[in-house]
Amino acid sequence: MKFQQDAHETLMVPGFVEFEDDVLYENASPAIAPVSPEFVTAFNNVLKNLRKIVYASNSTQPIVVAGSGNMGWDMATLNVLEPGDKVLVLQTGHFSDLYDDSLQPYGIQTTKLLAPLGNRPSLNEIRAALKKDSYQAISITQVDTSSGVLNDVKAIASLVHEVSPSTLVFVDAVCSVASEELRFDDWGIDLILTAPQQGLATPPGISIMLVGPRALEAYENRNTPPATYFLSWDRWIPVMRSFESGPIKYFATPPTNLILALNKSLNNILNGDVSLEERLQKTIQASNQVKEFARKMGLKQLVDEDLQKAGGAANSLTTIRYPDGITAQDILPKMAQRGIIIGAGIHQTCKDEYFRIGHIGSNVIDKQRNDIERLLENLKEVLEEAGYR
Ligand SMILES: Cc1ncc(COP(=O)(O)O)c(C=O)c1O
Repeated sequence: MKFQQDAHETLMVPGFVEFEDDVLYENASPAIAPVSPEFVTAFNNVLKNLRKIVYASNSTQPIVVAGSGNMGWDMATLNVLEPGDKVLVLQTGHFSDLYDDSLQPYGIQTTKLLAPLGNRPSLNEIRAALKKDSYQAISITQVDTSSGVLNDVKAIASLVHEVSPSTLVFVDAVCSVASEELRFDDWGIDLILTAPQQGLATPPGISIMLVGPRALEAYENRNTPPATYFLSWDRWIPVMRSFESGPIKYFATPPTNLILALNKSLNNILNGDVSLEERLQKTIQASNQVKEFARKMGLKQLVDEDLQKAGGAANSLTTIRYPDGITAQDILPKMAQRGIIIGAGIHQTCKDEYFRIGHIGSNVIDKQRNDIERLLENLKEVLEEAGYR
């Protein structure tokens, strides 16, 4: 049976993306036992393909569990860090703030390197911070979905290795995996946290981590056992390894149908008509098209202008300020009436001052959908209807 999802509005909200029919069909598979050969093969492929998506070698351990993206931070913190450890958090918006907050209950000492709204800490500031204190880890939100700021993970990781080689490099790639270039081995990343519902184009409900050898070593050499039972890698890592090399171990029921769906989507991304590299290129092209439209229309972006020129605006989304006299009510519901859902602002300090457009996955690779052109035509009309000239 060929499955086709119902007609629906086009989602162009960073955080929620369009799913392909064959991925949703896998999610609707009949009940499957987690120890059945079909499921074991699918999980095995998921683990191997996650490494490929971020260019990681076999020494990197993928961990895939039921949960949300951010839940993975609790797991990473509890397994890699210990009370009293210091973490340098690069502030770029809501999601880096959330990560900082999430460390507080665990007695981690955080230093937040602040940046003005729409900007990111500079390499010089990061260098100075790394020289001033000794950190167990630095956290980089590659794309902060709240602000649209893109961090230069490659340059930051290289700086960390030069100035503070023992500091682990943690990357939040929830809004950037398979949408922005992200190279685990080449760039010297130690831990990536991500989720299925954005660049991986799979329904939410899975927490994904990729843990490199240095982060695994930190976990193995900790002074105290992880202060968690169900999130402990003492239990999860043997389960993950068992799905790659057997015999299968049970600890908690995996989200079977979501894993099947993720397997299909990863396979589409890695082995489909559009290669991963082409996907990243097409995301850049779509992003340029949207940002160029904003400039031509005289619309200001939330990302600082100099930072935009320096390549610091995300390719997976665009954040645009409402022009004077125009509010969310003039734009978002009007776009929805035209069948295109775009996102409201979510940065606490200015959430009513801007809107967010996601351009991820099918939006950018499936030209037949014509999503970018439809978006821009409709946005222009909606702005004009609201009195913008
Ligand atoms: C950059 C970033 N980090 C973390 C998260 C949290 O993911 P989840 O909602 O799955 O916990 C999101 C969600 O949109 C995000 O965009």
